[in-house]
Parts: sequence; structure tokens; C-alpha cells
Amino acid sequence: MSGPQASWTILATLRWTADYFRTKGVSEPRAAAEILLAHTLSVSRLDLYLRYDQPLNPEELARFKALVVRRRAGEPVAYLTGHREFWSLDIQVTPAVLIPRPETETLVAAALEAAQFYEENEVERGGQGEDQPKTGSRKPKPPSIWGLELGVGSGAVVIALAKELTRMAWVGLDTSGAALAVARGNARRHGALDRVHFLKSDLLTALKPYAVFSLLVANLPYVPRAEWERLPREIKAFEPPGALLGGEDGLDLIRPLIRQAPQYVKAGGWVLLEVGDRQAPLVVALFQQTGAYDRLESIKDFSGMERVVRARRREAAG
Ligand SMILES: C[S@@+](CC[C@H](N)C(=O)[O-])C[C@H]1O[C@@H](n2cnc3c(N)ncnc32)[C@H](O)[C@@H]1O
Repeated sequence: MSGPQASWTILATLRWTADYFRTKGVSEPRAAAEILLAHTLSVSRLDLYLRYDQPLNPEELARFKALVVRRRAGEPVAYLTGHREFWSLDIQVTPAVLIPRPETETLVAAALEAAQFYEENEVERGGQGEDQPKTGSRKPKPPSIWGLELGVGSGAVVIALAKELTRMAWVGLDTSGAALAVARGNARRHGALDRVHFLKSDLLTALKPYAVFSLLVANLPYVPRAEWERLPREIKAFEPPGALLGGEDGLDLIRPLIRQAPQYVKAGGWVLLEVGDRQAPLVVALFQQTGAYDRLESIKDFSGMERVVRARRREAAG
């Protein structure tokens, strides 16, 4: 970085970097400059403005410059800082995992609603929840209701759900051992490791086909091959293709999952899938074809796109 300033204050550095990113076509230039500088100085973004006239020392400037160069080359901000916020949780990320997207919070919200429907249904049926052990103690032991996330990546979704649904225990599956290590680390940091059991699995193959789960959520790779070609370099060159690519029409993994899920999900339990642009009607049709689900519904994200398809496992197998 060379410029007219004798010393690079925080404000001068931010201004210069935001302008530089803007001229180079880097997305969200000001935010990127702020996040990278805050990361370099180990302070919050707000702190930058409280200390705007503080000069950077040569070592800080050198570390910041290295990040600016990498961002300019397309590396996502979250990989540069190693963090991304999801559902108000700080999630650590590495290039082994997909960076959690804000629209995936729609999957979490829809799953929370489904969990509530499930519990209400249990009460209507006069049930106490799940196979509750008889303890003989005055206070009944809370039932253990099981949820499953397929394709955990960083663990963002299953950890958010485990934090919200404190009576539930979870299984988190992924084919990637490196992703599972990141997810375990995040679960530990958020105090959820005792309620989430992570396992390596290709689709559901690591599990015996017992219908024990009340919720099954998945944000599997769903990008169709042709669309992959058009993705920004920032995604294509840096995020794991195995977390994004879903074959010719994007549904290579979703199709078998919908067929197999009834063997793993309890009657009255819910399956929720994140889907891509214009895939929702196709996915609804796939659920319908099995005859094993009812209460099919697609749910829009904050941009109005049908982002999640939700289906209930029929009470009696169809
Ligand atoms: C789109 S990412 C979702 C990550 C995370 N759940 C999220 O929403 O941010 C998809 C994840 O599915 C995993 N995956 C891909 N193919 C799989 C398969 N056949 N079985 C299990 N997991 C798979 C990938 O490794 C990746 O972590």
C-alpha cells in the first residue's frame, strides 16, 4: 500500500482499501475492508470507528496488506478471517466447509416450526414424546427426541437447532472427514457437543434403517452442472465443489434421500430440505411420488425465493 499519508490511521486505511476494492470490483468493498481490518487488529468493527485516528504499526499494516491482496484475488472474507456469523452464532470456517449462507437460516426457522408441530401432535395423541424410560422418580425424565442433519459442513445448522431445541439430541452426518472436524470444533465451542453425534456417512448409509428421527434436515449440494459454470470465481475457485455440485439437474442427492428418508423418520416426523432456484416444485413432486409423506409445503426465504421444502412422514406408510 502506498499513498500520500505519512502514517496510515485506521480511517485512512479503511478509506483507501474500500476505494481500492471498489475499483477492482470486489463485492461489498467497505464491509470487506472493515471486517479484514478489525480481524487484523483483533477489535470489533465498531472499535475501528472509536479509534479512527490510531495509526497502524508496520507489522499490522503488513498483515492487513496480505489479506487485502488475497481478497482482491477472490478469496472469500470468511476464509480470510476464519469466521462467519450464522443464527447469531460465531461459526468457524475453513476452506474444507461451505461458508454458511444467510438464506440457510430459513431452513433453521422452518425446522423449529416443524419441531413445534411435532410436539403439539404428540400432545394431541396423549403421548409423552418419545420412547420414554420409566424412571420411577417424581419428575418424569425428559423424552429424548432425535433429529438428524445430513451434510453438516461447518455444523452451523445442527448447532443452531441444538441450541434452540434443548430437549433434542442430534446426529450430524457428512461424507467429508475434514468438514466433520470443523463441525465438531464448532459444536464444542458452543457447548453442543454432548447433544450432537457426528458421523462420517455417504447419505444415510452409516445408519441402520430404523425410523427413530422426528426431524431430518438437509442442505445437500443442489447446484446444477450448467449453473456451476456461471458461479462467481469467489465460490467456484474457493469453496468445496463437493458441498455445492448436485449433478445434471442438481437433484442427484436429494432424489435418493427423499426415497430413503421414510425408513429413518418416525410417523408424524418431518423432513426439511433446502433447495435452489426453481427446484421447489420438482422436489415437492419427488416427495409426492413416494406416497410416504403428507403436508407438503415450500417455504420462501427473505428474498421471496422458495428455499425450503417441508414434508411430514405419513402416520401410516403410504
Ligand atoms: C451445501 S453444504 C451444507 C453445509 C451446511 N449444512 C450449511 O448449510 O452451511 C453440503 C454438505 O453436504 C456434504 N455432502 C455432500 N455429499 C454428501 C453425501 N453423499 N452424503 C453426506 N454428505 C454429503 C458436503 O460435504 C457438505 O458439507
